[in-house]
Amino acid sequence: MHKSKFLNIVLATAVLVLTILLATKNDLPDMRKKNSPSASEGAQTVVSDSAYIPFKKKSLGVRAELYPKPALVIGSYDSEGKPNIMTAAWIGICNSNPLSIAVSMRPATYSYGNVTETGFFTVNIPSSDMVRYVDYAGRFSGRDVDKFKETGLTPVKAEFVNAPYIKEFPIVIECEVTAFHELGSHRQFIGKVIDVKVDEAILDANGKVDVALLNPLIYAGGNYYETGRFIAEVGESLHEIDGQPFVPDYRQKYVNETLEVIHNRKSVRHFTDHPVSKQQIELLLRAGMAAPSAVNRQPWAFYVVTKRETLDALGEQLPYAKMLLQAQAAIVVCGDMEKAGNLKEQGYWVQDCSAATQNILLAAESIGLGAVWTAAYPYEDRSKVVTETLNLPEKHVPFNVIPIGYPTGEDIPKDKWKAENIVWQEHLNE
Ligand SMILES: Cc1cc2nc3c(=O)[nH]c(=O)nc-3n(C[C@H](O)[C@H](O)[C@H](O)COP(=O)(O)O)c2cc1C
Repeated sequence: MHKSKFLNIVLATAVLVLTILLATKNDLPDMRKKNSPSASEGAQTVVSDSAYIPFKKKSLGVRAELYPKPALVIGSYDSEGKPNIMTAAWIGICNSNPLSIAVSMRPATYSYGNVTETGFFTVNIPSSDMVRYVDYAGRFSGRDVDKFKETGLTPVKAEFVNAPYIKEFPIVIECEVTAFHELGSHRQFIGKVIDVKVDEAILDANGKVDVALLNPLIYAGGNYYETGRFIAEVGESLHEIDGQPFVPDYRQKYVNETLEVIHNRKSVRHFTDHPVSKQQIELLLRAGMAAPSAVNRQPWAFYVVTKRETLDALGEQLPYAKMLLQAQAAIVVCGDMEKAGNLKEQGYWVQDCSAATQNILLAAESIGLGAVWTAAYPYEDRSKVVTETLNLPEKHVPFNVIPIGYPTGEDIPKDKWKAENIVWQEHLNE
């Protein structure tokens, strides 16, 4: 073959390979975006919502890259009965019956000597807002400082074991050492669980820990992260849509969690029968009451409906709120005409109740619940139904009914971005 012809072929092949590579690279983020329950076109490709491009692996050697690692705090007494706490990430459940927890400690830690001597420890599980205590307990030794005194945390003698627990932490687990193993750098203590105590504030309606309310800490790569957003129930992948395992996974990534919640909020009209807890509702109401209002009048009242008969009665009578028949709870946002006072005529209360409603809807999305705004105001017939069913006083004008529950995953967010809705008044900036 002629030399220049051969060079041309080589060059053309190289350009073709480069073009294909670039095209494939550009495709990857789009593939991730297509990850919706009904996207049967994604059937052949395993797509990930995480911020990584599969499947290019690099060996890192022997490193503790196990995720997620917990960041928990171990409580123990020293030989003089002084309470101490130490942070541990090398920890986890290691047996179901008897329920046991394994925690590994370096001999250099004060806690190691304490637990070896007493044979007991507590595991204290923090919420993410307690990260400063977790960090402190992991950076100073009880040999040098009194960590309870320095942090202001309160030691409580455990009920069943000879170890202290931290009063302010939402979950404490009392353990008795039944075995230990010398592993090298660490001694692994096996602690049989004797009792678990949980703050009522983080229990759901079934008396189980609501992880979204606990919001536990993750330790990873030298940093702390928070977690706790509900994503799916165990076993949901057993359902099939278009022949594919289905776990609701419609989330798109945004630059921060606030934007993610705003964009993932959707009107949820299909609920599972999983109950909603009083704590969850209170969290939504706190968000509602944090809304701005004209002259800070806060001209609202929130009626919480959880009784099945009342939810059904409202659902049967309100033509656009049939989803109440499935919902586990509802918040009825009312305008309070006494609080609105002289601003009543201008209708500011409508704007104020709208802001509160949007906050409630966003808060629901943020903890994995679903909700939908169903109007009462300005319809006389619907307002009458709500007023009569809930026996509202005259000063409380029903604004809307917000059915609440765990979403089935059928409702997905809409992309409502429309550039034509914007009028850029550029000349104003000139
Ligand atoms: C996030 C984090 C995780 C830790 N995990 C462990 C662990 O699993 N085992 C351990 O021996 N030390 C661990 N440490 C270090 C101990 O908490 C630290 O040495 C502490 O000062 C020991 O306290 P003490 O001497 O009062 O017992 C961890 C520290 C941090 C900050």
